[in-house]
Amino acid sequence: MKVLGIETSCDETGVALYDSEQGLLAHTLYSQVAIHAEYGGVVPELASRDHIRKLVPLLRSLLSDSQTRREEIDAIAYTAGPGLIGALMVGASVARSLAWAWGIRAMPVHHMEGHLLAPLLEPDPPPFPFIALLVSGGHTLLVRVDGIGAYQTLGESVDDAAGEAFDKTAKMLGLGYPGGPALARLAEGGTPGRFVFPRPMTDRPGLDFSFSGLKTHTLTTLAQSPGTAHDKADVAHAFQEAVVDTLLIKCRRALKQTGLKRLVAAGGVSANRLMREKLERAGAQDGFTVHFPRMEFCTDNGAMIAFAGCQRLLGEQSAQADVFVRPRWPLDELSPP
Ligand code: KG4
Ligand code: ZN
Repeated sequence: MKVLGIETSCDETGVALYDSEQGLLAHTLYSQVAIHAEYGGVVPELASRDHIRKLVPLLRSLLSDSQTRREEIDAIAYTAGPGLIGALMVGASVARSLAWAWGIRAMPVHHMEGHLLAPLLEPDPPPFPFIALLVSGGHTLLVRVDGIGAYQTLGESVDDAAGEAFDKTAKMLGLGYPGGPALARLAEGGTPGRFVFPRPMTDRPGLDFSFSGLKTHTLTTLAQSPGTAHDKADVAHAFQEAVVDTLLIKCRRALKQTGLKRLVAAGGVSANRLMREKLERAGAQDGFTVHFPRMEFCTDNGAMIAFAGCQRLLGEQSAQADVFVRPRWPLDELSPP
């Protein structure tokens, strides 16, 4: 089965073609970073308008570059939520319209299920069950995954998502949007141990997270130092260590609680090099395996949506006939196809 995937939930227009027999055939991404950079964050209306401009040309070049005729496509998967309503509507309307015109099915996909399944696109995919750490700009979730659609949320952020904390802290340090990767680069030149930030909510039982307090910590620390380039790098270093350690502590706890031996980390923040290293090291020490998407599939992309949609279609989930979007959509509400 060949599935065309469309992702437009936020500031990336992603398209891909996935074949259930041959794997990923093609994928392309257009990032709106340059458009939003001058505003210091995503402007929803500009995002929707740019998806409108870019989506159809991107689909055309995907099909021509992969020498695929539209008759070969069996279904279309699109991100239906969570995300920005206007941005979602663009992907959903285009997907639904093409599906009607071509006489094929259109499958709405949950964006976080896309992230969660992205590591399964890699050559050595983890078998179910596993623990998934989903760390994106909008969500921080620890999920027990027993199969496609069998998700139990074990913990989540009570305030800022991990990526959001990276972005907001980066802003305080005078870094541009998107802040996560810029902060990570700055942190590399920081002095280890000069500042030590708290590991929030690790001193009590449970698997929830809270990252908003780290912003205050950053502000106070910056206010108490001269604010030189060195100071900023040291603060970035302390912040990144604190976030990564906190995530690691909770992952270890979730694995211990459930007795599972496999960990999947996905979503934008899983591109963070320090996090990848620390999780790998912990896995080697504790005896669990760690699975990541390749770097380009950590952040938003069409490949994960084509893949997730295909799994649901293979599971014989029937596609809906309407243009379905849901800006807020808890992952736990999904059921197996
Ligand atoms: O999954 P994603 O592309 O979009 C959402 O679904 O939200 O995640 C984007 C988030 C942003 O907050 C970005 O700053 C963060 O992922 N991010 C990183 C890194 N690369 C992206 N955070 C820390 N280190 C990175 N290397
Ligand atoms: Zn995402």
